Amino acid sequence: MSKILRGLQPDVVAQFAVTMIQWQKQYGRHELPWQNTRDPYRVWLSEIMLQQTQVSTVLDYFPRFLREFPDVKALAEASQDEVLGLWSGLGYYSRARNMHQCAQDVMRRFGGSFPEEPIDLQSLPGIGRSTAAAIAAFCFGKRAAILDGNVKRVLTRVLGYSADLSIAASERVLWDLADQLLPTDDLASAMPSYTQALMDLGSSACLPRNADCLICPVNKLCAAAQEGDPLRFPVKTRKLKRSSEAIWLLCLTNSHGEVWLEKRPPKGVWASLYCFPIFGTAEALALALPEGLACHHDASFVHVLTHKDLHLHPVRAVWNGEEQPQTGIQGSWMSRQQWHILGLPAPIRKLLDGV
Ligand code: ADE
Repeated sequence: MSKILRGLQPDVVAQFAVTMIQWQKQYGRHELPWQNTRDPYRVWLSEIMLQQTQVSTVLDYFPRFLREFPDVKALAEASQDEVLGLWSGLGYYSRARNMHQCAQDVMRRFGGSFPEEPIDLQSLPGIGRSTAAAIAAFCFGKRAAILDGNVKRVLTRVLGYSADLSIAASERVLWDLADQLLPTDDLASAMPSYTQALMDLGSSACLPRNADCLICPVNKLCAAAQEGDPLRFPVKTRKLKRSSEAIWLLCLTNSHGEVWLEKRPPKGVWASLYCFPIFGTAEALALALPEGLACHHDASFVHVLTHKDLHLHPVRAVWNGEEQPQTGIQGSWMSRQQWHILGLPAPIRKLLDGV
């Protein structure tokens, strides 16, 4: 199949981009707060937020982030804790850590202005090929293809591309096909509309478990619609490898109602976020407790990450000692006011809310 598709049908090449652009103008989204701008800072911010988060959630975070950090310089100069604190609740915190680093690199390497070429954008932390293309197309009218999850679905259906996308070579061919479908004329205006059209179609008519081909602007060009089984695409056989990990959490409070929190190291689970002291076994936690300190095992629960199930075992104890508890990492007592604005893993925030 991929061999046949190396040569695309001429009518698809001629009509796909033009039809998508017309449809976007009439039926696409035009009023999102990161649209109607060519400011790469805003577009970059929105694209990073939208990578693993729904539009409805980003609508809430995007303006708050902009208010706090109105430009790339302000973000670069912020502390990591401020950035992670504002990101709190969005999840996938590596995005926030990379974003902060990216802002600093834009200042240092590019004099405070985002570069225009996808290849340069891609050299920045957290910006992959698709995000680089989105920024370059939206802000600079560059002829560059995006290929996120939604767009893979749209294109594999339109092209009837049934090669297995868990194989890197099949994905490379799809990138090549995506390049061939790009607009060829009036790029400054066509590229933003076309890019937004792909995103809009992939989040409206052409959904993973529902393909509303009757309202799709490219149904006449679409191989999967003609075949009658669009949900067969995209083909991806290899599933994500999942693992699990057990974590014991020492939830220490003191007589002032403060909690003991430590900043996690920059690598590993919950990197750079604030957390209760964590241990790999119940025995290791017990060893860290001072002799005679009573503790109480709360109900265990599972927190699901993309690659991993975390089996969390909270253990509560009240510390009345004068000296600081010795738990292994640098930590401190925090009041509710203090921890409220920190970058905290979602299950830790939930436990803190119950303190
Ligand atoms: N998802 C990723 N980028 C997007 C954008 N610019 N608009 C809407 N949804 C998106």
